[in-house]
Amino acid sequence: MDARPPRDYPVPMTQNFLDKVYKTDPEHMTDLYDQWAEGYDGELTGQGYATPGRLARLLADVAPDHDAPLMDFGCGTGLCGAALSAVGFTTIDGCDVSEGMLQEAQEKGIYRRLWHTSENGALPFHLSDYPLVTAAGVISTGAAPPQVLEQIVDQLAPRTFFAFSYNDHTLNDPDYMDALAAVTETRAAIVTENTGDHIPGLGSRSRVYVLEIA
Ligand SMILES: C[S@@+](CC[C@H](N)C(=O)[O-])C[C@H]1O[C@@H](n2cnc3c(N)ncnc32)[C@H](O)[C@@H]1O
Repeated sequence: MDARPPRDYPVPMTQNFLDKVYKTDPEHMTDLYDQWAEGYDGELTGQGYATPGRLARLLADVAPDHDAPLMDFGCGTGLCGAALSAVGFTTIDGCDVSEGMLQEAQEKGIYRRLWHTSENGALPFHLSDYPLVTAAGVISTGAAPPQVLEQIVDQLAPRTFFAFSYNDHTLNDPDYMDALAAVTETRAAIVTENTGDHIPGLGSRSRVYVLEIA
C-alpha cells in the first residue's frame, strides 16, 4: 500500500519534458532545455519539485555568511535561486548553458548577474570568487555529465561550500558516484547530506550533498 501523504499540489495533465529528459542524448540536451524553458516551472512545481528547497535549507544551516556571493551553477529558470533567496541568501548569481532557461531566470528578478556558459568552454567568470556554489539537478543524467563535478570542484577556492544534488538515476550510475569519490578523496569533504523527495509527483528522490573544499 502507498504510504505517501496526499498531494497538496495540482497534477498536470501532461509531463512532456520530464518524460523526455532522461532519454535525450547529451548533444541535444541544451536544445531540449531551450524548448522546455517556458513550461519548465509549471511542469516541475506541478509535480512538487522539492530538491531546491531541501538544498537551500541544508546550505543555509552550514554557511556562515548568507550575504557572501553565491553562484547557482546550472541555474535553469531560477527555481533554486528562488529557494536560496527564500532562506536568506542575498547575493546570488547564476549561469547556464541554455539561453532559454536563462531568459526565464532573468524574469524572476532574483539574480544579481546571469552568465551564459558553454558545455565545454572556459567559464566567463572566476568560480573561485564565490565562497558559495550550488548545482541543483545539474550534475545528473538528464543534464551535465559526471566530469562537470570535478571541473567545478577544481576551480573552487579553499573553504568554499558547494551544495549539489544527485537524483535517483544519478545515484545508481557508477560514473557519477566515481566522480564524487574522486573529489572527496582529494579536494573536498562532505560536510552534510540528506536524502528526500526530488519530484514527488513522479515518486523520485534525490540526495543533497554539501562539500567543503579543502
Ligand atoms: C534539471 S535543470 C535544473 C535547473 C535548476 N538548477 C533547477 O533546480 O530547477 C538542469 C540545468 O542544468 C543546465 N546545464 C546542463 N549542463 C550544464 C553545464 N555543463 N553547465 C551549466 N549548466 C548546465 C541545463 O541547461 C538546465 O538548465
